[in-house]
Amino acid sequence: MKAVLCTRLGGPDDLELLDIPDPVAGPGEGVVKIKAAALNFFDTLIIAGKYQIRPQLPFSPSAEFAGIVEGLGPGTSGLEQGDRVMGYVGYGAARERVAIAANALVKLPDSIDFDRAAGLCVIYGTAYHALKDRGRLAAGETLAVLGASGGTGLAAVEIGKLMGARVIACASSDEKIKFACQHGADEGVNYAREDLREALKRLTGGHGVDVAYDPVGGRLAEAAVRSLVWLGRYLVIGFAAGEIPQLPLNFVLLQSRDIVGVHWGAWIAREPQAHRANMMQLLRWCAEGKLSSHVHAVYPLDKAVDALKDIAARRVLGKAILKP
Ligand SMILES: NC(=O)c1ccc[n+]([C@@H]2O[C@H](COP(=O)([O-])OP(=O)(O)OC[C@H]3O[C@@H](n4cnc5c(N)ncnc54)[C@H](OP(=O)(O)O)[C@@H]3O)[C@@H](O)[C@H]2O)c1
Repeated sequence: MKAVLCTRLGGPDDLELLDIPDPVAGPGEGVVKIKAAALNFFDTLIIAGKYQIRPQLPFSPSAEFAGIVEGLGPGTSGLEQGDRVMGYVGYGAARERVAIAANALVKLPDSIDFDRAAGLCVIYGTAYHALKDRGRLAAGETLAVLGASGGTGLAAVEIGKLMGARVIACASSDEKIKFACQHGADEGVNYAREDLREALKRLTGGHGVDVAYDPVGGRLAEAAVRSLVWLGRYLVIGFAAGEIPQLPLNFVLLQSRDIVGVHWGAWIAREPQAHRANMMQLLRWCAEGKLSSHVHAVYPLDKAVDALKDIAARRVLGKAILKP
């Protein structure tokens, strides 16, 4: 089978498309023929050796996929050959087939196509866990989402609305803000043009936002923390801007604000039941048409390099999907 392989750490151009043996389902495992695999921002880091997970070489990028169960090993139950499923592997899905613990596969409702299903798990899983479990976002509160047209950002916009919040989409262009507003945001801030703190103050009548969701980091983080109301929550999602923010803690103390870490990948390993319950809710919402799981573009496996370059250049709205 064909696989996109990282055989040496580096940039997208260092990846290779190679033939490798098909996987065999071991005890408790299912082999899935991948119909769509999703790329995330962190795939640009993992292939460079700059992510918290450093797989042994060679490995395939792509943390998540959707496909069809092709084979089942001994000791599996609840699945049959031909079932439509989605799965999360952390890395390793940019290839034609994967073998994975069968109990980690989730059956797909017929109404969700493979392309949308492939990109559902990481971004919506992260956003829902962040807003509900970590941020305690309540109906009627105001939520500011940074990087609002990107993967985790757009997911937070959509889930924030479903949870009854007023959502302010913050992004680097008017086109990105318009896109986030088409996905439910109530209004937007172009932080390439306007000071984030001033704009959030203006939009909230000087009051501030209850929750700030930040997958970008860098220079925007301090402005986001300083825009929070009394008892406001700043959710640390990621550092797409590259710079890990250093914050003066007096802004935290003076307004009794919370700085809340969110590590979805570690949480799902620690609390698998809670994760499964969140995923079931997300799948219901998706099947009801309440989540877009927006696909920016579908790239053939041999164009994975282009997909990763588009993500790194901030060109992707929603998700980049690979199709073997
Ligand atoms: N905490 C967790 O559990 C968790 C889970 C998943 C992902 N993450 C992290 O969240 C971050 C965002 O992931 P994502 O999938 O949402 O990424 P994405 O789809 O690429 O979106 C990231 C957004 O960040 C903004 N950005 C600002 N500076 C950038 C730069 N130099 N390069 C790229 N983007 C830049 C862009 O929006 P503008 O152009 O509008 O600024 C872009 O849309 C990553 O650091 C990822 O590792 C964390």
